Amino acid sequence: MKILVTGGTGYIGSHTTVELMQKGHEVVIVDALFNSRAEALDAIETITGKRPEFEQFDLTDNTKVDDFFSRHTDIKGVIHFAAHKAVGESVNEPLKYYRNNLVSLINILESMKKYKVGNIVFSSSCTVYGEPDADNLPISEKAPIKKAECPYGNTKQIAEEVLEDSVNAYKTLNVIALRYFNPVGAHESAQLGELPFGVPNNLMPYITQTGYGIRQCLKVFGNDYDTPDGTPIRDYIHVMDLAKAHVAAVERMANGKMKKQFEVFNVGTGKGYSVLEAIHSFEKASGKPLNYEIVGRRAGDIVKIWADPSFTNNELGWKAERSIDEMTKSAWEWEKAYRQGKTKFKVEE
Ligand code: NAD
Ligand code: WQD
Repeated sequence: MKILVTGGTGYIGSHTTVELMQKGHEVVIVDALFNSRAEALDAIETITGKRPEFEQFDLTDNTKVDDFFSRHTDIKGVIHFAAHKAVGESVNEPLKYYRNNLVSLINILESMKKYKVGNIVFSSSCTVYGEPDADNLPISEKAPIKKAECPYGNTKQIAEEVLEDSVNAYKTLNVIALRYFNPVGAHESAQLGELPFGVPNNLMPYITQTGYGIRQCLKVFGNDYDTPDGTPIRDYIHVMDLAKAHVAAVERMANGKMKKQFEVFNVGTGKGYSVLEAIHSFEKASGKPLNYEIVGRRAGDIVKIWADPSFTNNELGWKAERSIDEMTKSAWEWEKAYRQGKTKFKVEE
């Protein structure tokens, strides 16, 4: 199948492209390179032996999106990763987030309707659940959606509504929204991994950069929460397991296996780990202690959340396979390979 992967040079999109290509699918990537690098294409080629097709443009430009679909009439499905994702930035620049994340989705849906492309997998997030009530943990897809903590999270909630209203109106459209928990880790080749621009906002790249000495000290945001060791709990999921969930989703759609036109799946492991447990797993992987200090809480942080993945396991036929230790190990191998110039990516200061 020929699949359009938007945001395909980004973190999750590039790993998913590898998995799709290794399953025999043809991929065309659209990415504006706002938050990624063209070298991701070289890395994908190194791993798979083939180079995905690539077009660089901004998906908020409706003319370009329409032109793209008019030229690629053989696309059988879309995986839509492209979005801005920085929580803090979204608070300061909400309109940037609403414009980018929603206009790009609407443009794609309009073109899919016009050019009769039926299937789209959408990158949603566990952020739509907010802070779950204790009796809703582990959290299933049936749990209530809570008011978003930030404009970024709200774009995911609104996008799910846009998609649901669209399937109700357009009978040719099928949607699978995957609600990811916390994607971490890297491809086992260490040729591809998470490579944020500037200072990382998220835990795992901050850990690996601190391990390598790029950052002096990891700040742990609070150890006075109501959890066993006082630090918040997340369901970390290996990015290659997440990539496989996308392949399962597009194949489910293409094979006519959907039970409804709009389906939602949690993509997590079902296990929660605290910040300190994630650090200790990394210390095992790297074989040395990590320099960290406990500081005050980060505003807006969820205390504890982990997935009930049973619906996804049973219905999508997908299950996370990799452990937290495999996640931290692969992230560390990638960080080292990248910093030592052993990948296709230019080493940045
Ligand atoms: P990423 O920033 O690495 O990748 C997103 C890619 O989209 C980037 O390469 C960026 O250049 C591109 N992009 C953004 N806006 C675009 C536009 N208008 N036109 C063309 N390209 C555009 O992010 P990621 O971590 O790979 O996340 C992928 C998706 O998964 C996003 O939708 C994100 O919100 C969602 N998600 C991510 C996480 C996470 O923790 N990483 C968790 C849940 C959901
Ligand atoms: C994990 C834990 C931090 C950095 C965010 C978004 C969410 C989702 C994924 C997309 C928390 C702690 C972190 C650091 C720390 N994205 N931490 N020191 O907060 O679960 O989710 O990214 O949809 O929407 O909110 O992920 O990796 O930022 O944090 O102590 O330097 O690590 O407090 O407990 P989070 P994270």
